[in-house]
Amino acid sequence: MEKLIFEYSRPGRRAHTLPEAPQVNFGVPERRSLRLPEVSEIDVVRHYTRLSRQNYGVDSGFYPLGSCTMKYNPKINEQIAAFEEFAIQNPNTDDWRMVGLLRILYETEKMLCKIFGYAAFTLQPAAGAHGEFTGLLIIRAYHLDRGDTRRVKILVPDAAHGTNPASCTMAGFKQVTIKSMPDGGVDIEDLKKNLDDTVAGFMLTNPNTLGLFEKNIAEISELVHAAGGLLYYDGANANATMGIAKPASMGFDVCHLNLHKTFSTPHGGGGPGSGPVGVTEKLKPYLPVPIVEYDVYVNHYFLEDCLPKSIGKVHSFYGNVGVIIKAWAYMKMQGAAGLKKVSEMAVLNANYIKARLQGVYDIPYDRVCKHEFVISVKEFKKQYGVTAADIAKRLMDYGYHPPTVYFPLIVSECLMIEPTETESKQELDAFCEVMLKIAEEIKTDPELVRSAPHSAIVGRLDEVKAVKEPDLNYFLC
Ligand SMILES: Cc1ncc(COP(=O)(O)O)c(C=O)c1O
Repeated sequence: MEKLIFEYSRPGRRAHTLPEAPQVNFGVPERRSLRLPEVSEIDVVRHYTRLSRQNYGVDSGFYPLGSCTMKYNPKINEQIAAFEEFAIQNPNTDDWRMVGLLRILYETEKMLCKIFGYAAFTLQPAAGAHGEFTGLLIIRAYHLDRGDTRRVKILVPDAAHGTNPASCTMAGFKQVTIKSMPDGGVDIEDLKKNLDDTVAGFMLTNPNTLGLFEKNIAEISELVHAAGGLLYYDGANANATMGIAKPASMGFDVCHLNLHKTFSTPHGGGGPGSGPVGVTEKLKPYLPVPIVEYDVYVNHYFLEDCLPKSIGKVHSFYGNVGVIIKAWAYMKMQGAAGLKKVSEMAVLNANYIKARLQGVYDIPYDRVCKHEFVISVKEFKKQYGVTAADIAKRLMDYGYHPPTVYFPLIVSECLMIEPTETESKQELDAFCEVMLKIAEEIKTDPELVRSAPHSAIVGRLDEVKAVKEPDLNYFLC
């Protein structure tokens, strides 16, 4: 006998029927005390309200966390992703029952292709690092398919994000570090020295993690391709180039993006992410399956699993679809002109702060930056014993989220600042005033900065101990 399990309320939707589930007797559960603390409702409410106030997010204030800043995450996109029509979808639903959702995936892919210049994108990878891993597997499949089995090395600049070398190792490559020049660009001579017929590819971030555009990208692309390698683009922070420069036009064969940065999903906190990978025409056959296809003759969207040279599956079903829906809504809302404006504002805001802090703080790469820039406080450390971490902690006293510290590794006592593109001039000015005030404090009362934070719930934590010996037990009493 079949049992009706649910019926959509919208007209025209067919009832969905499934066979009745067999009855299973799980037996009588053993009674054991959970040792829950006896607390009143009001105590529980106060406890969680207090905890929520200790949290800091982009909704609380300015968030200049370089490389990982909270980009603009419009609230309406959260509502769109939560629409019942999307939320009700089950990953096992047949294609023909989720044509609308498949169309959104298809359109997202096509819009990304247009913005970044690629022939195709897979939306499956669940994060930036997962995208890197997927892209590197595609590079490997390409070389192996051509019978080129010697290509075991991936070159990575010393300024790269830590996930780049890690992904190389995960994908079975040997990672080789390429030096940077004093001006922050790739050391071309070091690159040439390392390019040979064992190189599978070169992974590059552009603008790089110093916030600088790689001026020699055309020459780099020529050199890598002449050596038979492929060029990989770490596009985790694409908000400086949208509508302005396409990585495919710079010569990058593969690219990953972080939808959970540039395209309206909050980054950080371990929430769901999405790291789509874009490829040029010659790498299309190696994309992970399934891919979303559209049959123009019958106006039908479907999932295609038959890609004989595919690297296989990299995620269950079709990735973190909720994040993809937000990216789709964001691109539709912004349009081409809006996305270009996003990039222009990201670059303008970063350069504004850089210009205001110049002269007081040491800005080691003194040229126009893109979405972020770095400060080195090594002189403050030498003269006053104040470190980058101290300044970050002192910013918390003034109500700011600290910038990224000690990254990239090639800048000593580094603070990496990236303002969100939607910040007002007033907000940027307020932050600059505080940074200038802290510089004054360093000279007049360095201990005040060294011993910060003075207003937080906890002072300095033993961060190494917290990582090595996490205390995951927490009781309400
Ligand atoms: C430049 C760069 N590459 C790669 C990543 C890795 O992305 P994810 O944290 O999603 O794995 C990040 C993350 O912040 C990044 O800034």
